[in-house]
Amino acid sequence: MEILKTKKHMQEWSVGKKKTSKTICFVPTMGYLHQGHISLLEKGKPLCDELVLSIFVNPTQFGPNEDLDTYPNNIENDLRLAEAAGVTVVFLPQKEEIYPDDFQTRISLDFLPDHLCGKSRPVFFGGIVTVVTKLFNIVMPDVTIFGKKDYQQFLIIRQMIRDLDLNIKILGGEIVREPDGLAMSSRNAYLTTEQRESALSLSRSLKMAEQAIAGGEKNSGVIVKQLTAFIQSFSQTRIDYICFCDPQTLEPVKFIDKQTLLSLAVQVDKTRLIDNIIIDPIQ
Ligand code: PAF
Repeated sequence: MEILKTKKHMQEWSVGKKKTSKTICFVPTMGYLHQGHISLLEKGKPLCDELVLSIFVNPTQFGPNEDLDTYPNNIENDLRLAEAAGVTVVFLPQKEEIYPDDFQTRISLDFLPDHLCGKSRPVFFGGIVTVVTKLFNIVMPDVTIFGKKDYQQFLIIRQMIRDLDLNIKILGGEIVREPDGLAMSSRNAYLTTEQRESALSLSRSLKMAEQAIAGGEKNSGVIVKQLTAFIQSFSQTRIDYICFCDPQTLEPVKFIDKQTLLSLAVQVDKTRLIDNIIIDPIQ
């Protein structure tokens, strides 16, 4: 496994692979890898000749009071896991490599970022789309894989790829959960034992909603009220949103009579957690 730290080396490597008609699958991450990331690498491994992982904690997607400075990291462990997952190259740039002093471009989308996480994190998706576009230009992948725990991010990157006519196939990876249901996230590392119990309110809410819908409840407002009360019964929780919405446009949905995304964001003390499920009431 090679570790490349500069854009020049990464691009030269990718151009070399293209010249010999090798295909590249790319999984971008911010590191502190867990089984969710590994599942993306495992999904990508058989699809292309080469598997590239990037590790870069992207400062432009963090707001002023967010956890950029404390974001967990363990590069040695990440490299060990990457190698075991069959990664051929890790792209590991420094901040200055991605954002030189005179950097001033920001890519934005018109509608998808107006919903869910975009409402309370105004700089989040602009920062993500900008860095991912740069990473795509540096790594030059044929295929890229994004986890669907960050469902809105997945939709936004897919839209950006279409809108900018990038010749990249994007695939989504399913959410990977701990045995007790907690969706895997690098941020789970922040949780104390008590907070981790509160964090379970997210996945349990998704199950409650599924059961309510299976039992005939179609009014999203009624279920949101139930879930709000449930999540608030756990200590240190602060709900950012509980939203039933269209899984393609993210427009809120009042009546659940077709495939619907239920997406949640809850702050447990200082840790922001998200989770989601797609519910099909017809099944
Ligand atoms: O999902 C993430 O880890 C990040 O948002 C990404 C896609 C690596 C961009 O910084």
